[in-house]
Amino acid sequence: MKAARGEMRIVLVGPPGAGKGTQARMLQQTFTIPQISTGDLLREAVREGTRLGQQARIYMDAGELVPDQLVTAMVAERLRRPDCAKGFLLDGFPRTIAQADALAAELAAHQERLDGVVSIVVPRADLVERLSGRWVCKACGAMYHERFDPPQRVGVCNRCQGALYQRNDDNVATVNARLEVYERATAPLLDYYRRHGVLHEINGSGKPEEVFQRIATVLRSLPPPAQP
Ligand code: AP5
Repeated sequence: MKAARGEMRIVLVGPPGAGKGTQARMLQQTFTIPQISTGDLLREAVREGTRLGQQARIYMDAGELVPDQLVTAMVAERLRRPDCAKGFLLDGFPRTIAQADALAAELAAHQERLDGVVSIVVPRADLVERLSGRWVCKACGAMYHERFDPPQRVGVCNRCQGALYQRNDDNVATVNARLEVYERATAPLLDYYRRHGVLHEINGSGKPEEVFQRIATVLRSLPPPAQP
């Protein structure tokens, strides 16, 4: 079974609120490959006030994409770290054709390629509801939903007692902007990866555990990576 070998280079793609982060956290434990979330990396840069963070913040608060060259450089640096040697789960990257081309070039330079791209499909009305009810722990990053997965105490993380907050970009106006950006810039990636024969579309409705089982079934059925 592939999970035991932990050798998989996977991309999770889907609109804001599709459940990429929720699923990536569950998958990284089962398949023992690191989750690399460009949203999380960028939010960390914003929190730390780095040069990248200062540049990225303006785009993120507006629901726009951070420019390709900033994000691809950040991901290339992350993929070169030792924990990615046997695979990774990219969450929220690539988001444009230019980013997909840059990723393919980076992998090819190391005689690697993607094993699979999982697209999580959820109706738009559900996306808005999921995002407007999302609460995240400031301390450990655990995610809650005020209706689907509420914390035991309002505003307090079950796991570490940290304070919960709502992301700056989860207000209705910015969510709508993010959904439009997804349709315009990211949805064309589905055809791109379909043409490359690596796209798997997954129904993202239902309980997180049910969605997880659908994705895990796909990942376990992937052919082993070609030997260099
Ligand atoms: P990012 O952080 O990647 O945000 P996103 O893609 O908009 O995705 P989200 O994190 O909002 O949603 P998700 O799909 O992970 O869903 P989640 O699991 O959290 O990016 C933020 C910004 O950073 C971008 O707008 C852009 O500015 C910038 N950026 C990032 N990557 C970039 C890139 N590559 N290029 C350029 N710019 C980039 O779930 C959402 C909610 O739903 C939670 O409350 C959860 O509990 C709930 N939920 C999850 N699954 C279910 C379920 N099955 N049923 C019911 N509720 C569920």
